[in-house]
This record gives sequence, structure tokens and C-alpha cells, in this order.
Amino acid sequence: MKKLSVLAAFLLSVFTLASAQDPAGPPPPLQGRIPPVADVLITVSTLNTDLILRVSGRDGRLYQAYFGAKLTNPDALRQMRDAGHPVYATFGTDNLFEPAVRATHNDGNPSLELKYVSHMTEKISPDITLTKILLRDPVYPFEVTLNLKSFTKEEVFEEWAEIRHTEKKPVTIYNYASSMLHFDARKYWLTQYHGDWAEEMKMAESELTAGIKILDTKLGTRAHMYQTPVFLLSLNEKSDETNGEVLAGTLAWSGNFRFLFEIDEKGSLRVISGMNPFASEYSLEPSKVFNTPPMIFTLSTSGQGQASRNLHHWATKYGVLDATGSRLTLLNNWEATGFNFDEKKLAGILDDTKKMGLDLFLLDDGWFANKYPRNNDRAGLGDWQENKAKLPNGLGLLLKEAESRGVGFGIWIEPEMVNPRSELYENHPDWILKLPNRPEHYYRNQLVLDLTNPKVQDFVYNVVDGLLTANPGIAFIKWDCNRMMTNTYSVYLKDKQSHIYIDYVNSLYAVLERLRQKYPHLPIMLCSGGGGRVDYGALKYFTEFWASDNTDALERIYIQWGYSYFFPAISVCNHVTSWGDQSLKFRTDVAMMGKMGFDIKVNDLTEEELKFCQNAVVSYKSLSDVIWHGDLFRLISPYKENRAVLMYVNESRSRAVLFGYTLNSRYGETFNRVCLQGLDPDKTYKIREINVSNRRRGMSENGRSYTGEYLMKAGLDISSGTPLSSIVYEIAE
Ligand code: DGJ
Repeated sequence: MKKLSVLAAFLLSVFTLASAQDPAGPPPPLQGRIPPVADVLITVSTLNTDLILRVSGRDGRLYQAYFGAKLTNPDALRQMRDAGHPVYATFGTDNLFEPAVRATHNDGNPSLELKYVSHMTEKISPDITLTKILLRDPVYPFEVTLNLKSFTKEEVFEEWAEIRHTEKKPVTIYNYASSMLHFDARKYWLTQYHGDWAEEMKMAESELTAGIKILDTKLGTRAHMYQTPVFLLSLNEKSDETNGEVLAGTLAWSGNFRFLFEIDEKGSLRVISGMNPFASEYSLEPSKVFNTPPMIFTLSTSGQGQASRNLHHWATKYGVLDATGSRLTLLNNWEATGFNFDEKKLAGILDDTKKMGLDLFLLDDGWFANKYPRNNDRAGLGDWQENKAKLPNGLGLLLKEAESRGVGFGIWIEPEMVNPRSELYENHPDWILKLPNRPEHYYRNQLVLDLTNPKVQDFVYNVVDGLLTANPGIAFIKWDCNRMMTNTYSVYLKDKQSHIYIDYVNSLYAVLERLRQKYPHLPIMLCSGGGGRVDYGALKYFTEFWASDNTDALERIYIQWGYSYFFPAISVCNHVTSWGDQSLKFRTDVAMMGKMGFDIKVNDLTEEELKFCQNAVVSYKSLSDVIWHGDLFRLISPYKENRAVLMYVNESRSRAVLFGYTLNSRYGETFNRVCLQGLDPDKTYKIREINVSNRRRGMSENGRSYTGEYLMKAGLDISSGTPLSSIVYEIAE
């Protein structure tokens, strides 16, 4: 019976005439004869990189013929005769390695074959080109459109797939990668970024060997924490900041992700990136489009520094909301008060915000819930009404008080979550993700709401919209998400429980999309119990992210160093707090290398310390444009020496900011001079020391002038031998 239906489908496909379809147009008839094709080359390019795909006239399949430095000789293109590697390998026919896509058809046939049908290229803007390639199964009405967007100047590619079918009943898809890239190098070096709460973004490099290496997470509500959805892949040799061929990749997805690296028997590497298919087979309805999230990647032939700058340039324009603009400096009260505050205390903190010269006060957790007051993390989450004991006059009074001081007011929320001790839990047990027949499993005493349910999406939207409508003066939001999914079951999804991981994230995006339509530019910090939700899927809705709850400045150097490979400084929130026992100067200098804020008891500062902070805020405001929008050069890695040195240089190379931190120093240890980068050799620069502290010992180049050539070739003595000391220089033409 099964054999007959396959045969029927095949005969139908042979006798139905199909034309090459424009994938951007109306949906094509899926089932149709695929016209024979001649060899076709499809080139997707940036300024310096070519990704060349080749349709083989022999078998009609699509292959990756070349990915590397731009080919400038037209003959080189004509010489692309080898088939190459499959661009989006399927499962069930002749592929013996990991597939990009796998599906079982209505008749139970578990195989998929994808042949080239057509492609089109669209110039979206002078900088952006979109190439869409339609692939179709010759027997089953099942197709994939591969999308490749190239950002010419930024040297960045985005790739994603759209999968659909018109079989009679839903088709189960088991694998659905965003991209599959191939490399033929002598050796492959993978750098991953892993960690845990308060120890995010630890870098580790290892050589890939034959077989499969997987970087993935299964956390549900977020991508990052144990593994971050980012990697560097060095080809042939280990790369460093200025040398080597290196691919930097990241997935724009805020949930389970998977990067799979497989070296085959011939030493070729395939890198398959996308949502994690683990426990997530998806039942795809006929004619519905299944979209995979964009895989973002850049290939640098001059080391990791350039790869980072490519991603930063791309992110500033296209990846992070409003990143070409500016950011607000702020005073947060989480470290200073925890849940323990009232109107009087907050009025004092508003005074402090003003006194410090900061733009905004950010009121953190603990301001809401009455039946089960939010006085600790065991109660109240979900009940978003002002707590009457702490705030008898509501947020309205705080907003007025902020306004009268000329500072902004921001507020913390965690709208996707619920404490069992809450009215929300009592009223809507079916809105909560939890397994029947098993005890509830808590993380930070809370559970996750079932965002796949449209009623819950409305609830979350209304929490935010309600807050902003009732208090139009709110100028900033910190959106937290303090747990992952465990013991997960959705009442709403019924027999489609394996959809939960994908549908949750898409539902979150739907809520954020709605909110951004109404509030397109409100600054919102992405937070997830520290740095847990740091990815470009979310960042298009957020202006910045909380990098880690660990604000010990020594730890922070490593954490911020890790993020700097993939995310621009303007998006990384760093607060000066009382964690760690480093000097105030050291803590401030570390916070300055991104988006600076404070979370300290201002009252506890001495006069001298207060003055130092006030000056630091003024300096930061004058330098922040260079830090936020300049090019980053990592000069000395804390992973290689007992110090870290980095600098930002503005586009016209007229201004730079250099940060140097001595982490430790052994008896007799000397630090070499550091050659700067990114300056104009012909310009003369004057050096001004920032955040000068009376307590700092060691040399300073303050007031001296040097040519860019001297600074880049002879270098400067930057690092003092005093452990936990730091220096910040403005270097201006
Ligand atoms: C976790 C965040 O990372 C902290 O900064 C703080 O906002 C707490 N949540 C509040 O509960």
C-alpha cells in the first residue's frame, strides 16, 4: 500500500509541469517536475568574502563549492568544477553523516531528497543582498527555501531556512538546521564560551578531531548560561587577534541551540547550526512555513580582532536595537537594598542618582504584590501591582520625585514567571508549565508561565503595557528571566509537547514584537539571572544586556572579555558594585569598558570617593561615544598574561580610549610595552589619563604626545606591577 502511494506521488510529479518559481512570490505548487538544470553557480559575497554555491547539472543538488577570501580572477570562478559538499544535506537517501534536515512523510517514508528549483537575488539596500534558493523534493510536496543575506561592508552573513510542504496531513520534521557550512582545512580549532551563573563566558580552545563535537543547551527559556550560542573556528592554524583564518558564528535564538561540528573520514568539517532538535520533533501543518532562526557568521583572514569588529559593526546597525544611538547611565538598587526598601529610602537613592550625575534610577525587584508581598524571592512573582506597604503612593510618586530631580526612572519586571505563592498561581494554574503526576520543580522558588498559550501572551503583554500606560514617565525597563525549564508540560499544547521549546521562544518574540510596535525605542535591558539570555534573537528587541550577576571587577574582566568577541560594548551593561575587594577606581575602570552603571550605597562613599565617581561619570559621558561606537582592539588577553589591555578607536581615528588592568603580578614579573592598534600613523595624539586616583602608584603618560606610528610600533608602558591596578587613557588627535 505504502509502495503504491509513493509510486503514485512520483508519477504525478513527473506528469505535472512545474515552472521555476520566485520564492518571494505566491506559494508555488509544491508538487511538480523539477526541470533539469545545467551547472549553475550562485555567489553570495561581502566586500572580502565569497560563499559560492554550485548546482550540479548531474544530479540537480546544491553544493558548497567555495567559502573563503574573495576571488578576484574571473577564471577562478570558471574553475569551480568540483561538486563540493551538500549545502543542506538531507537524511534517508545517500547521506551518511549528520543531516541539516530530516522529515517523515505522511506515508511513513523517512527520506528526503532536495533538488535545486530556482533562485533569486534581491538588493535590499546598497549594503544588504538577499539570495533565496528554492529546493524541492522530486517525489514529495516538500520544499526548503534557503535564505542567505550578506552585509557587504560589515562582512557578515545571515543564513536561515524556511521549510514547508503540502502533504495531506502534518509532516514530522526532526532536524531543521539554519545553516550547514563546510571547510577543508588541515586542522580545526574551536573556541567555545561556557560557564554557569556568575561565571559566564569562559573561553576554552580545543582541536577538533574526527567525529562529532556538539555545543548545545536545553534550557528552554534561554540559550545561554552553561554554553553560549557563539563560537570561533580557526582553520589550519590557531588564530590570534591579528593573524589567521577564523570564522565567528552565533545563532539568533533565545532558546535551545545546537552547533554540531563533524569531521568526516576525509578530514572535511561540516558545521551545522540551528535550534536544538533534541526532544523537539515538530509536526508541521500543510502549507505552514517553519522558519529557522538566522545563523550569523563572519569569516576573517586577519584574525579574531577583525572577526569581532565585523560582528560589532553589523550588530550596531542591524543586530541590537538602537545601537547607533546612545545609552542611559544609571543607578540600580539591587545590590544596595535587595528587597528591603520604602519610599523614603528610594527618595534618598533618587537624590544619589542626581548627586552622582547619572541619567536614571532603576528600581529593581521587590516593588510589587500585596496578598503575597514580594519581600523575598519566595513570593509575589506574577502579581504586578505596587506593594502598598513599601509604596503606599504607588509608582506615580516615585516618577514625580524622579522628575523633580531631573533624573529618569526605570523599573524591573520578570513577566514570564510565577511564584507558587502568588495570586496568579492561584487563579491560573493552567497557565503554568509543570508536569502532571509529578511534584513541581522550582528554581529560585518559581515556575515558568506557558507563553505558548495566547492568553498568557496577552497577560505578559498587558503587564508591560499596563505598567507603561499607567506610568507613562517610565524611561527604562529591566526584563529579567530567572529560570530555565524543568518538569515542563504545557496544558495548551496538548499532544504537541515536543513543540514547547520552539513555540515558547517564538511566542516570546511575538509578545516583544507587539510591545516594540507600541514602544519602539524604550530602552530595555535584557537580563536572565545574570547573563542568561544573550543572543541576537532577543537583542533586536533590547537595547542592552546584563552580562552577569558577578560584578567582582576581577571576574568581570574575563566575563566582559568573553562577550567582547561577539557583542559590541554598547550592549554590555557593567555596574560598579561592592562585590570584590578591589579599589573603587579599579571597579569603575572595569565598568567603563562597556555600558556603565552603578549599584552601590552612595551614602557609604567618602567625600573623595564620591568626587571620584562624579568625575568618572563626566569622563564616561565624554568618552562613551568612542567606547560604544568605536572599533575594539584587544591588545593583551587576560587568558595569556596577568593583565588585560584593550582599546576603542573612533571611525576617523582621531580619538581612542585605552584600558589597562594588572590582575596579578609575580615577584620579579615585568610587563612588556604594548603596541597600540587602529590609530592613524601620521597623526599626533595627546594622552590624557582618566579616572586619576590619588592612590594609584606607577607611571602615567598623562600629557605626553606621540605619533600614531610611535604608539603602534614602539608602544607604551601601560601596566603597573601592582596587582588589581588599572589605567584609562584618552588618546586624542
Ligand atoms: C537577577 C538579576 O540578574 C539581578 O540583577 C536582579 O535583578 C535579580 N534577578 C532580582 O531578582
